[in-house]
Amino acid sequence: MRGRFITLEGMDGAGKSSHIDSIIATLAARGLEVVSTREPGGTQLGEKLRELLLHEPMHAETETLLMFAARREHIAQVIEPALVRGTWVVSDRFTDASFAYQCGGRGVERSKVEALEHWVQQGLQPDLTLLFDVPVEVSVARLAAARTPDKFERESIEFFRRIRNGYLLRAETQPERFRLIDGNRLLDVVRHDVIEILQNFGR
Ligand code: TYD
Repeated sequence: MRGRFITLEGMDGAGKSSHIDSIIATLAARGLEVVSTREPGGTQLGEKLRELLLHEPMHAETETLLMFAARREHIAQVIEPALVRGTWVVSDRFTDASFAYQCGGRGVERSKVEALEHWVQQGLQPDLTLLFDVPVEVSVARLAAARTPDKFERESIEFFRRIRNGYLLRAETQPERFRLIDGNRLLDVVRHDVIEILQNFGR
């Protein structure tokens, strides 16, 4: 049986990365084979592109094209082969991030990102997307307290407002695969919700 494809999304500072380990552990405890991966990245080439994407200034459309170039490689080398052999895939970000950051944040035309989505994914969509949502002020405050920021994390509060709206809009248009997680609660409370979703998903 084909594996399931699960993605984690949210603004920088929304807290998604804190839950990856418990998500993998929950699925493994169900006896499932799981691959944990991330975007941009997930392959040798993709990780090189990630370095450029997170640190080099570039035109917004160049950024979009490189995100999808990395994604093409990721799907071909990691995601699709895993799903075919029945392994579940958990990816820290996927295409919803391109709609939120490149369309919402940078203003790249939606139709262009949709064209890349169809080209690169050929119908592949996540089966489940956990969208970690926090007020923009919370995310910005968390980032200010954290390590050295990358190119995206140095953006303005207005940029993050557009990212959040971009994500929420995407969740509204594809409600069947999205689960909205309120990330503005104690870590353990959020973790409890996340684990419950993963214990029941796909049964
Ligand atoms: P992130 O996943 O937050 O990693 P870390 O926790 O190490 O900071 O960083 C990846 C950044 O890339 C994030 O700011 C969002 C951005 N991004 C896009 O702009 N578009 C995309 O399609 C993807 C996958 C990520």
